[in-house]
Parts: sequence; structure tokens; C-alpha cells
Amino acid sequence: MGRTFFKAGFAFFIFCNILIAQSSTQLLSPRIETKIDSLIRLMTVEEKLGQLNQIGGTWYDAKHDRVGEETVKLLREGKIGSFLGVVGAEETERVQRIAVNESRLHIPVLFGFDVIHGIATITPIPLGEASSWNPELVERSAHMAGIEASSAGIHWTYAPMVDIARDPRWGRIAEGSGEDPYLGSVMAAARVKGFQGKNLLDQGSILSCAKHFAAYGGAEAGRDYNTVDMSERTLKEIYLPPYKAAVDAGAWTLMSSFNEIAGIPSTANHWLMTNLLRDEWGFKGLVVSDYTAVQELINHRVAANRVDAGILALTAGVDIDMVSKIYVNDLIDPARSKKLSGEVLDESVRRVLRVKFAYGLFDNPYRNCDPSVGKKVLLSKEHRDVARAIAEQSIVLLKNGNNLLPLDKSTKTIALIGPLAGNENRRNLVGAWAWAKRPEDVVSVIDGIKSKISPNTKLLYDKGCEIESDSGARIEQAVKIANQADVVVAVLGESQHVSGEAASKTNLDLPFMQKELLKALHKTGKPIVLVVMNGRPLTLQWEADNIPAILESWHLGVETGNALANVLFGDVNPSAKLPVSFPRNVGQIPLYYNYKSTGRPLSDSDKYTSRYLDAPNTPLYPFGYGLSYTTFTYGNLKVSSGTIKKDQNVTVSVEVKNSGTRSGDEVVQLYLRDDVASVTRPVKELKGFKKISLNPGETKTVEFTLTPNDLSFYNLDMKKIVEPGTFTVYVGGNSADCLQTKFDVVE
Ligand code: GLC
Repeated sequence: MGRTFFKAGFAFFIFCNILIAQSSTQLLSPRIETKIDSLIRLMTVEEKLGQLNQIGGTWYDAKHDRVGEETVKLLREGKIGSFLGVVGAEETERVQRIAVNESRLHIPVLFGFDVIHGIATITPIPLGEASSWNPELVERSAHMAGIEASSAGIHWTYAPMVDIARDPRWGRIAEGSGEDPYLGSVMAAARVKGFQGKNLLDQGSILSCAKHFAAYGGAEAGRDYNTVDMSERTLKEIYLPPYKAAVDAGAWTLMSSFNEIAGIPSTANHWLMTNLLRDEWGFKGLVVSDYTAVQELINHRVAANRVDAGILALTAGVDIDMVSKIYVNDLIDPARSKKLSGEVLDESVRRVLRVKFAYGLFDNPYRNCDPSVGKKVLLSKEHRDVARAIAEQSIVLLKNGNNLLPLDKSTKTIALIGPLAGNENRRNLVGAWAWAKRPEDVVSVIDGIKSKISPNTKLLYDKGCEIESDSGARIEQAVKIANQADVVVAVLGESQHVSGEAASKTNLDLPFMQKELLKALHKTGKPIVLVVMNGRPLTLQWEADNIPAILESWHLGVETGNALANVLFGDVNPSAKLPVSFPRNVGQIPLYYNYKSTGRPLSDSDKYTSRYLDAPNTPLYPFGYGLSYTTFTYGNLKVSSGTIKKDQNVTVSVEVKNSGTRSGDEVVQLYLRDDVASVTRPVKELKGFKKISLNPGETKTVEFTLTPNDLSFYNLDMKKIVEPGTFTVYVGGNSADCLQTKFDVVE
């Protein structure tokens, strides 16, 4: 029996190659689907469940750099469909050859890995890249990451993370694009296209994975993995759009999230994974669970045991079990006894095989196994140029009192102070989900500044304190050099370990001794530029009240020092805008710009309105905010018609002038409010933005087209409709300071 099957299997493998070669551009063609069905008919139950089994690789195993014999045995038995964390051209080739040549059906495996913002040439954290409001550049950054990842044997990245986050206590806010569904959707699509390239079969393209489906960012109290409980309307209007945008952009995979939504864990949510994702959105790719999320259904207490958990997840529509080993070990009997539907099993196998065909692995299983490619692309000058460009566009100028910035390159003496400024902590500058295997690959702040200042400038340095420790402070030494300087550059913030996964915080102040250090420096009376390096909004009220210039620089990646120096000394005019609101204190959270009016909107003249006794309602810095070294003025806001029908578009135009003394880029933002509707609507919602360049004195007219879809919302019956009525249009350089006008919609 075995030999016959073997012959049939090998013949089938050859048959695939002939067909795929002729139809490699016709992926998902009927012929591909027929081949997949033929292959499924050859598979045993064990082999089917094996395709749905993903195991961890050597990346997470400090002791081994090659998969072990037990894994090799499973490969030969066809019990592994994909790996998380087998990295390297040589090792992936070695493993793939075992899968293809030594298993019965020769099905290639997929190699997945977390390439969130680069794998060697690390770019800013995604929240930083989103601050650029430059989707073209974000796409280039993702494509560069794909080129580098594929040179290391990787087929598939678990990115983009597209979770909307309104709570900076949640460490994973670092990995996404902030609080807004429109900006989040634009960035999701850009990253999917960047990773997957123009053609998935091109060298350098890798499969993307929109995660964490869904609403992972809605965790109560900002505590990671916590309960998510929200209305269907909030889910559909705020949290789901970026996943939909990723699917529409062609994402081939999604990842199910750890969390429940209103009592149903996503990984067991049939409505989410099948009715919505497949039936309504038409998604043809695969869903992989998050790490052990299938097994965690037991912790959620919706499954009594591993078998129940596996059947729940697979039946919901979660195709691959990431490292629980439930599908492959515990579902054989249920599959045989039909306790697990054979159709459900075959459909998941079909989706996994479809993705492998789409990625060309049956035609060329060793497509990313050429070790010579990495030598050419990893940390190449071209890639560093991309990393520096997006880092420069990620830096947000929050404050520039007395136009302290940009600094003069020939300043006599500069004191550079802070635990994130020197070389010893530079590995932190790459931020969460990145590994600077060689810290020397990261351009530190001190090295960036040294390369920028004049030979006559004296640069003094002291780290002043540790990043996250009460011990080891050197505040006196730092104050001493500050007193010798004409200007102080203080580089403070978070280590890479306190944002990202399992990194929720209740205190968002500058950590440990850093605030004390800053206050001591402030006492010297010297002008201070504060550079904040962080993976989330921090509470900077004291800093905003006392420090003349503040740059929000996030964790900027391998080109940190060069990008920051270019902005500090004015070779680059900052143009970034915040993708998330900065609260004044933790008590304000959750805090976001697209809030509802309530029945008692804030009124300064009436105590009995929605307010706090001890703080304003407004954020310290609002969504969409960011300054420039020049100034922009807005005028002549117009709509193409004061009245439109429900099915018509309306054009909005505004004039933007560079009223300052130097060229600069401005992100012109368009917001909309449905003034009166059958359900409550946000006070404003982002519906468009354009980044424009203006020379001093130059004026440009910027136009936006609002479509019926932009005006629509989910009504009382959860139907997406446009209602007649008055709409208010807001246009400006951030969500708080806008020109406004109105138009009416009639039947
Ligand atoms: C982690 C994360 C997910 C990541 C996966 C694989 O727990 O939640 O974002 O892609 O496991 O590392």
C-alpha cells in the first residue's frame, strides 16, 4: 500500500510542477483548485491534520540552531505544515528538502516569522512609521523588510499588526497604527502590499498576516490578553476596518487573536472567522491561531479539554494551530469518528495548500534559500537609506518654544544626556519585536550627532541614569556638564522591553530616575531639547509645561542617530503627526479624538456636564498633531455644493500656505461629522489626508472627494446607510484645530 501511494504521490508532485509552470500567474485558477482537491483525496487524516500543525523552530531555542531529529521524523510523517521561527537560507533549505523529498506526498512547508518592522535593517516601530502619514514610504519599508526576510528563508511574516488601540497602557500599541480606523486602514493596506509586493512569486515578496483578528486592542484597562467587550457597532465602525482593508489589499493570511469579544474567544468565533471573514468579505486565504491560542480556549473555559478546544477552533475557521499541537495530536479520532466534520477539515487543508500554491512553493520550494542574497541586501546602503527616510518622517515635533530648534551645528558646547543617548543602550533603539543581533549596527544618538556637528563644537555626554532602575543615577555628573553647555539634548524614554507583547503599564511617566534627572537639568536654567524614545504615548504634562522643545521620536530603528541628528540640526524639517492621542494623565484613559457628544457635553459654565474635577477632557497632544520648523495657514475652505443627494459625491477644497521661512511638508487632514443621525455619531471622524510639500510663501489648493461610503454608518438595524441631514466638514493640520464648513444631504 505504501509503495503504491508513494508512486501516486510522486507522480502527483511532478504533475503539479508541469501545471504550475504553465499557470504560475493564474493562481487560484480552477486548475489549481482541481490539483488541490486531487492532493486532498490522496491524504490520510494524519497528513491532513499535519498540514494544520505549526511548530516552533530554532529561533526561540538558544541551545540549537538546527531542528532536531524528532522534528525531522514528524516532517517525514507529514505531520508538520509550517514552522514559526526556522530562519536562515541554509537551515530552511535543509528542512524543506526533508519535507519535499522524504515525506509521502512531498508537500512543502511554510516558514513563518515575526518580521514586524524589519529583520536586519530595523525601521521605526509601526506606531512610529504611522506617524509619517506616508503610506507610500510605509509600503517601501515593508517591502524592504520582505526582501531581507525572504533572503533568510522566510516565506511568511506575522504582520501587519492592524489592531486599533485607544489605550497606551497596552504595550502592543507600539505595533499598530494608533487609534483611528481610517489611518489604520491606509497603513494596513500599505504594509500588506509592501510585504507581498506586486507579485507574490517575485523574489523578495513574502506572505503577509493581518493580526490579531479581532479587536485585540480593545483589552479592558489596557491589560494585555484581557477581556474585550464592546458593541457590534463599535466593533464594526472602529476595530474591524483595518482588517477588512488588509483583506481587500490581498492579505493571504490572518491571525486569530487571544481575546474574547463579548463572551466569544476570537479563536472559537465562527461568526468572525467564517460568516464575516469568508462569507461576507470573500477571504480565500488561511487563518493561523496566535501562539497556543487554540489550547487557551480551555483557559477561557469554553472548552473542557484539548479535543473540544481543537474542534471548536477548527470548526470556527482557524486553519492552523500555532504550537498547541492539538490539531495534529488530539483530533485524529474525532476526525475518524466524524465528531470533527470531514468537510471542515478538508476546507482548512484546502486553504493551507492554496496559500502554498499561491506562494509558488510547489513549483519552487527552495525559492528563498540562496544564501548569497542576504549578503547583498541585509543592512545594505539602499535599505539604510529607506530606514533613515522613514525614521526622519516618524519624528513628531511636539513643542518648539522660542524656536529653540533646529540647533546650530556650530553651537559651541552641547551637553547630550540620557540613558538612550549613548552607545551602551543602543540596542533598545530598535524597539519592540526587533532584535539588534549586533548593537553596533544601530546608529546611536551620540554617533549621529557627532557626525553632524562642526569640528569646533564641544559635545559633552553623560547618561545621567539608567533607563529603568532606581540605582546607578549620575545626576550630579549630568548637571555638571549641563552647566558647561549652551544647550542640553536630553534623550529619555523606554527600553525596548516595556512595550510590545505582555508589556502593559499603569504608570506612563518617564520611568524611574529619568524624570528626576530631567528636573535637575531644568534647574540649571539651560535650554533643553527633550527627545522621547518610547513605544507608546507617555504622560508628559510636566515636560510640556517646563521644557522648551520636545521631539516624540518613538523607537526609530537602526538609523536612529542619523535621522534624529538630521531633524535636530534642521537638515530635515519634521513633518510627522501623532497617530494616537497623548493623555495628560492615566486617569483620562481611554482617550481618543473621535468620541461621542454625550447628553451633557463639556461646558465650562456648567458643572453638571461630562468632565473631571481635576483635569481637562482634552489630551495633552491631540490625534493628528505635529509641528514643523515652518508654519502653515489654512484658508478658503469650500465644498463643491451646499446640497447633495444621498448617492452623490462632494468635493472639499482648502488653500494651504507655507507662511514660514523654510520649506516643509504638511499633512492636511479632513474630518467629517454627521450633525444629527438616528444613532449617536462621533464628534468627528478622519475621512482623508494628503501630505503636501510647500516652499516658503507657496500656497496650494488641496482637494478631497467625499463619497456616500464616507458619509455612511451603521443605523439602528446595523445596516450601513447614508441618512439625509447636515454634515460638518473639518480641515486642518490636526484633529483639534480645523476650519469648518457644512453641506446638506437630501433624499
Ligand atoms: C505572539 C504574538 C503574535 C506573534 C506570535 C508568534 O504571542 O501575539 O503577535 O505573531 O505569537 O510569535
